[in-house]
Amino acid sequence: MRKDDITEPMNTWDNFYQSRVCNNIYVNAFCKKYNRFIEEIIVNIQQISYNLKTPLILKEEGCGIGTVSLAISQIGERLFNSFGLTDSSDTKKISKVVFSDINIPMLELCCKNTLSISTNNYFGKVPLFYAKENICEPKFFESSTVVVTHGVLEHFSDEDVTKIMSTYNNDKVLFQAHYVPTCQYASPSFGDERLLPVDDWIALIKPDYYLLDNGGKDLYMFKTK
Ligand SMILES: C[S@@+](CC[C@H](N)C(=O)[O-])C[C@H]1O[C@@H](n2cnc3c(N)ncnc32)[C@H](O)[C@@H]1O
Repeated sequence: MRKDDITEPMNTWDNFYQSRVCNNIYVNAFCKKYNRFIEEIIVNIQQISYNLKTPLILKEEGCGIGTVSLAISQIGERLFNSFGLTDSSDTKKISKVVFSDINIPMLELCCKNTLSISTNNYFGKVPLFYAKENICEPKFFESSTVVVTHGVLEHFSDEDVTKIMSTYNNDKVLFQAHYVPTCQYASPSFGDERLLPVDDWIALIKPDYYLLDNGGKDLYMFKTK
């Protein structure tokens, strides 16, 4: 076999994520690790939706297999059960979930992985949409959208991060949440990940985001309209 014929099966996003699809152990570990990030999203969804008296659209960009939305549905359910809120009018704050990614095989894995969301109590029978979209390009947002990215922005140049963040300067985007790993990690996990110091992110995203620095390694960036 010529060297050129040797394929590298792990070398694509879908191969990297395949073993995490419909994998409860992975989702539970994700919920535990990113609990603070997910709780901040849930609290804001509840607050904004309550204030506006309208349910919101949750959009996960660069969604991969949609684990953030899965985690929101699981942690949301747990939180509301623990407050004894079982009536659906107490909890249904999302009218639609939109998953977008540039990679069609990832969207296929995402469809498979997120089936359980619409049977879960926190989201209820919410419609799910899957769209191929380049996160850097200008976007159309529907009214009352919450945008989440997780493990995405660190794969782009400074110029592209600025371009991506500018797409959220839109009246219809009411809340944003972004997670990036920082230079406190010893090495990148997969792909062209840039492990930047927190100060570089602050300089990049400008002062209007509030930050949660989860022990130095993980940086959570949020913005309310
Ligand atoms: C590290 S994965 C993160 C997946 C998911 N957010 C998570 O945390 O599990 C990065 C994702 O970004 C997607 N992606 C890469 N470039 C993109 C682009 N230009 N537009 C939209 N998605 C992109 C990849 O296909 C991949 O699914």
